[in-house]
Amino acid sequence: MGSLSLHSEQTCLLLLLCLLLYLNPSLAYSLRNCVTEYSEKPLADVVLNCANHELLTIPDDIPKDVSSLKLFSNLIKKVNKEDFGNLSKLRILDLSFNQISHLTQLTANIFQGLSNLTKLDLSNNNIQFIHSKGFQFLTSLQTVFLESNNIQQITDIQPILQLPQIQKLDIKRNHFTSFETKDLLFNGSSCLKVLDVSHNNLKRFSITTPTFPHLESIDLSGCRQTGGMTWDIPDRTLLKNITNLTFTNTLIPFKEIRKVLQSLDSLMDLKLNYMESLINKGLLATVCKIPTLKKLELYWNNVPNMSSKLVTCSQLSELDLSDTQMVQLSNGSIRSMRRLKSLTLENKFLTKVPDDIKNLYSLEILDLSENYISELHCEDFMNTTRLTELYLSINSLTKLDRCVFEKLTLLKILDLSHNILRTFGGAFKIGPPMLEFLDLTKNSLTLFEKGDFQGLGSLKYMDVSNNILRVKRSAFDGLNNLETLSASILYDGYYNFRGLQHLENLTIYIDLQVSFKHSDANYSKAFYHLKSLKVFTVICNSYHSGFPFDISVETFETMRHLETFAADNVYISAPDPGSFQYNMHLKNLTIRKTDLLDLDPELFRPIPKLQVLDFSNCKLKSLDFLAQANLSALRYLKLTDNEITVINETVFQSLPALTYLELDNNPFTCDCSNAEFIQWVKSNNQTQVVNAYQFTCSFPAAEQGKKLMDFDVQSCWTDVSFLCFISSTCLVLLTLVSSVIYHFLRWQLAYGFYLFLAFLYDSRKTKKGAPHQYHAFVSYNVHDEAWVYREMLPVLEGEQGWRLCLHHRDFQPGKPIMENITDAIYGSRKTICVISRRYLQSEWCSREIQMASFRLFDEQKDVLILLFLEDIPAQQLSPYYRMRKLVKRRTYLSWPQAGQHTGVFWQKVQRALETGDAPIDTNLLNGPAGR
Ligand SMILES: *[C@@H]1O[C@H](CO)[C@@H](O)[C@H](O)[C@H]1NC(C)=O
Ligand SMILES: *[C@@H]1O[C@H](CO)[C@@H](O)[C@H](O)[C@H]1NC(C)=O
Ligand SMILES: *[C@@H]1O[C@H](CO)[C@@H](O)[C@H](O)[C@H]1NC(C)=O
Ligand SMILES: *[C@@H]1O[C@H](CO)[C@@H](O)[C@H](O)[C@H]1NC(C)=O
Ligand SMILES: *[C@@H]1O[C@H](CO)[C@@H](O)[C@H](O)[C@H]1NC(C)=O
Ligand SMILES: *[C@@H]1O[C@H](CO)[C@@H](O)[C@H](O)[C@H]1NC(C)=O
Repeated sequence: MGSLSLHSEQTCLLLLLCLLLYLNPSLAYSLRNCVTEYSEKPLADVVLNCANHELLTIPDDIPKDVSSLKLFSNLIKKVNKEDFGNLSKLRILDLSFNQISHLTQLTANIFQGLSNLTKLDLSNNNIQFIHSKGFQFLTSLQTVFLESNNIQQITDIQPILQLPQIQKLDIKRNHFTSFETKDLLFNGSSCLKVLDVSHNNLKRFSITTPTFPHLESIDLSGCRQTGGMTWDIPDRTLLKNITNLTFTNTLIPFKEIRKVLQSLDSLMDLKLNYMESLINKGLLATVCKIPTLKKLELYWNNVPNMSSKLVTCSQLSELDLSDTQMVQLSNGSIRSMRRLKSLTLENKFLTKVPDDIKNLYSLEILDLSENYISELHCEDFMNTTRLTELYLSINSLTKLDRCVFEKLTLLKILDLSHNILRTFGGAFKIGPPMLEFLDLTKNSLTLFEKGDFQGLGSLKYMDVSNNILRVKRSAFDGLNNLETLSASILYDGYYNFRGLQHLENLTIYIDLQVSFKHSDANYSKAFYHLKSLKVFTVICNSYHSGFPFDISVETFETMRHLETFAADNVYISAPDPGSFQYNMHLKNLTIRKTDLLDLDPELFRPIPKLQVLDFSNCKLKSLDFLAQANLSALRYLKLTDNEITVINETVFQSLPALTYLELDNNPFTCDCSNAEFIQWVKSNNQTQVVNAYQFTCSFPAAEQGKKLMDFDVQSCWTDVSFLCFISSTCLVLLTLVSSVIYHFLRWQLAYGFYLFLAFLYDSRKTKKGAPHQYHAFVSYNVHDEAWVYREMLPVLEGEQGWRLCLHHRDFQPGKPIMENITDAIYGSRKTICVISRRYLQSEWCSREIQMASFRLFDEQKDVLILLFLEDIPAQQLSPYYRMRKLVKRRTYLSWPQAGQHTGVFWQKVQRALETGDAPIDTNLLNGPAGR
């Protein structure tokens, strides 16, 4: 190499090439601080979640094709120009809850490259000022959230108002004291449609220029400047497209708001929540005169006789009177609302269905949740025959009458959850015939009897969980279209799912609060009828040690279409290996909170299409069960909260489709036994190991609390990578040299080649002939010298007559030590390693082992004889990766085991020295087995 004079540029190039080859730039798929969210569709949008990671800067390993980026709840103070440089596909960026302050300091072009961004969330930062060019590249931006920052002036948000696609701007909770379009420094118009300036202490609000021709919605809630805000309207045509207006707890003088309401010609949706004093003063009279008004919200207004103030509001189609503390709707107050389609009365005080409702023939949606209604009467819904949705949850209903819903022939949604219903009184035997959704959670139902749901032929979804239920034979008859059912099942209850032949999604909550009475309940039979089931979930929330709810092989026998099965805290030990023999379409298997230590991989044999496997919290100690499972379609694997310490990387060869792996909360061991796994996490470009860089070490004690990915794997295979380095360097050099030679010395080349061949042949011949100077080179640590001289030399040199090479005695002084070692090893037929703890710790001695094993590799000869001076347990050997490998591969001699019979020991050594260059006969050397 020295004779070759390369130009410095060439040297640089060479070094660079070497470096590239040596480092093997990884196409890492597992990210340091972010998780690419799992998606079932491989071509779906890439959603990257980097939230809650205490990040100080934008991570630099964001994949290029990300379309949604979550960076909220970090400690980011600064965004640099290059941070989002090439994310041209990004559409949603969430930077909320960070500490970004002066966007001005960040140069004008921080969002350069984000030309496809449509939604930007910068809320809850400290932004005070926005540079005029801060947003200039965001040509697709439609929605900007700037809630809870420190912006004060309308001119500060001008760059946003001028964006070509802007539709929605949220600047609530900032420090604006006025919002007046005349202060803006541009004459053009903005595309803005929705403006939220709520919770700023605005003194003035005015739109006096044609800046917002498209503006539809304004929120002025929570503006509570002392003395109230004013709103100048010199030209009402500038507000002609405003349809939605919100005042919630806004301080504004009566005259001002009346003027505003009279000036808006298109107002359709008005919210006047928590505005008691103005309503007391008679504001509703003005409101009811707005001919275009369709929807009125009046939450949190405790105004006596409120409903009577609405008598003239006959134009409304939607009315919300929630939390107005009305004890009753005064008679006749809403009767005139002939167009009313939706009425919400989540009031907390009503004790019965208000009489006026009986006259609201056009009503489609009625919400009476959160009241004290204890009884429903047959006349209550007699005339509201157009109802499609009825909400009665959180009331005090104890029973139903057969006739209550009789006239509701169009009803689709009925919510009766959180009542104290005991019986239906036959209400569902006759209808409602179009009902699709029925919620009966949290009631006091105890028994479903034959035909109870006979009239619900259209029902698709039913939730009867949180009831202490028994279900008698044929109780579900008539539910021919039921697709989804959630139910609680009793420890000793009785269930019968006959009639549910179209059920696809069943969730069962096992309730153990009721004491166990009969152990002979045979649940398996109950499931026999569920032939269409695709999703089956069983959840037990309390501690148990087994119960008669028996999820056995028979349970699944008829579920030939089952795709998802989830069992939380249900099994007490691994399920029977034959459990899923009838469910070959199973794609998603979730078993959590179960001791799966004795899992039999046979379980997976009948379910080759499995894509998702979640065994979290299952006391698993390794991934080895997967090696035999043959899960070639598995894409998602979750094994969080287990007891996995070491992962054998080869297991992933049996999971060729794996893309998403979750292993949080496992007690990893940080030593060379995980080196290959660590390397795999960092370099494989298919499987994302979620949060891998946050995994901490639990073992060994010295590494506790450190990060698994920070473990120095190079120490486990320095020599291998060194070899790689050397060989790749040589390769590059060779390529370079040969191309130079070929170019300049084409003709001399052929001649040189033949010369080289001749030289090779010659040197081989001489090497072969050269006799070894010694029979064996003895490699030992200076601390073991006494043993070598006292025990070994007298026997091997004295009695048996071998010529040994000892470094103290036979090394040539003045020669470099490496050269001496090389000469000694190559000049001896064998190398005897005298192994003790100190030997392993000494750097030079391990070099000798390395060298000898190179020779082993190089010359295909067996030259190593291992003599153990002390018993070194396998786990102490594990840091010495190479030694462990050697010991695993071949037998060795142990001095302590020889005990009194040293004669036999030396005899074995003699035979080992006698064996020729052929591969060693391992039977000769029988070291202690079982290491
Ligand atoms: C922006 O989005 C559009 C449509 O989603 C897409 O066609 C285009 O390629 C995207 N631009 C870039 C630079 O990715
Ligand atoms: C204003 O509203 C009307 C009716 O909704 C609509 O046709 C018109 O395009 C809107 N004008 C603008 C400038 O958005
Ligand atoms: C405006 O009102 C309409 C009609 O009530 C509603 O559908 C829409 O969501 C409202 N828009 C906003 C931004 O609140
Ligand atoms: C239902 O409407 C009819 C006709 O308007 C009326 O006579 C009847 O009293 C109403 N029923 C109830 C229970 O108010
Ligand atoms: C099954 O039903 C439950 C509610 O009972 C629901 O949360 C879940 O999303 C449904 N699953 C599917 C796949 O439809
Ligand atoms: C697998 O099924 C469980 C239980 O239904 C569900 O919670 C989970 O989201 C499913 N996993 C995937 C990746 O679809």
